[in-house]
Amino acid sequence: MNKVLLIGAGAREHAIAKALKKGGAKIYAVMKHKNPGIARISEEYVIGDHNSVSFVKELDWVRNKKIDFAFIGPEEPLIKGMADMLQEQGIPAVGPNKNAAIIEGSKEFMRNLMQKYGIEGRVDYHVFTDSRELEEFLADYNKPFVIKPVGITGGKGVWVMGDHFTRKEEGIKYAKKVLDEKIGGEGKVIIEEKLLGEEFTLQVFTDGKRVMGMPLVQDFKRAYEGDKGPNTGGMGSYSMENHLLPFMDKEDYERALNILKRIIEAMRKEGREYRGVMYGQFMLTASGPKIIEINCRFGDPEAMNVLSILESNLVDIAWDIINGHISENLEFSNTATVVKYIVPEGYGTQNVAKGVELNVREERIEKEGALLYYASVDERAGQIYTTSSRALAVVGLAPDIYEAEAIAERALAHVQGKVYSRHDIAKREMLEKKISKMAELRK
Ligand code: AMP
Ligand code: GLY
Repeated sequence: MNKVLLIGAGAREHAIAKALKKGGAKIYAVMKHKNPGIARISEEYVIGDHNSVSFVKELDWVRNKKIDFAFIGPEEPLIKGMADMLQEQGIPAVGPNKNAAIIEGSKEFMRNLMQKYGIEGRVDYHVFTDSRELEEFLADYNKPFVIKPVGITGGKGVWVMGDHFTRKEEGIKYAKKVLDEKIGGEGKVIIEEKLLGEEFTLQVFTDGKRVMGMPLVQDFKRAYEGDKGPNTGGMGSYSMENHLLPFMDKEDYERALNILKRIIEAMRKEGREYRGVMYGQFMLTASGPKIIEINCRFGDPEAMNVLSILESNLVDIAWDIINGHISENLEFSNTATVVKYIVPEGYGTQNVAKGVELNVREERIEKEGALLYYASVDERAGQIYTTSSRALAVVGLAPDIYEAEAIAERALAHVQGKVYSRHDIAKREMLEKKISKMAELRK
């Protein structure tokens, strides 16, 4: 009963595959490049464009209904209607339909929804299509602001004042460029107030009505240590044994969870019932958690933090989501996790060490008590080579965060080549700074 079509090729999907396999599933994977981790635990796999609805529709497994359900990892196929297509073929899918995945596909939709239902955690935002109106508005805007293209840019189109630009004029110039060059694909730009605080991720499972929260995670998007350098897909992340964060308590968690519950309720009222995993990216500010964005899937790297300690059976959870009644018993072990990505040197710039051989000593990593998830590598004649994307990730697991961090660091030493990782993630110095920054903000 548990043949699962898994869509996606990254470390997030490797983590999903592993959890499904542990739950008794047989994996049939579609991936745009061969992820050696997924390939190894799959019954069968196909290399092809996993984002293409028409490609997946023509697969023999789909046409001849050889699978029981699908698990869709990335946002792109969801936003394009992969779940809808599969359902039309009689195959249930974990992941929202197109009309619900819009919560990630359009930041404007998400902000308007929160506004319409008066949901807590909103920010001041303004949407423009006309560059004269934009310029007039910003001329009188005297708070720090953020510029976001409407549409998907993989997190890379967002410009934050004080970070990507300092003078208002530079911001205006970039916002106009977003309109003129249709960055994000829609010729629309959102100007938001800049939030101050600490970012965090809360992921939930939902059947459209009931919502089950997962442990909190903090991820690191900037390429270099000390949160410097270009934004990336994420360089690493951590979670704590108590499922909170060092600068966040249970009350903050409940407030954030309640915001996601209200968004899911609002989606249902809109006739856009949302089923699957919802990802809330928040800023914890002096006045509580605020929404930065909502994603329609697990986070990457955050999936590795939570799925590595999931004690419930992911196959059961998947069926519960599909059947519309998720269980209240969702168990995660009280273990801290630290994910560190290994990326090719120069990742995030034009000058990436691509096609370079990597020496990955898997048994040594395992011996350290760490896990290994593959992301984007090429495998030729038994050798592993880098691409221009993130290569693989290690996860340190321990009862204590600093021990988990030390394990992740020892695991990193067993991957050699022209690679780079952020060693500062989840070190004591970093976490203590965050605790005192948040305490200061809340005074
Ligand atoms: P997004 O693509 O919306 O997740 O934005 C990318 C990054 O920009 C976020 O992870 C934040 O670090 C930053 N960011 C986005 N919106 C805001 C905001 N309103 N205030 C401060 N920082 C923001
Ligand atoms: N970790 C950021 C994301 O998955 O969007």
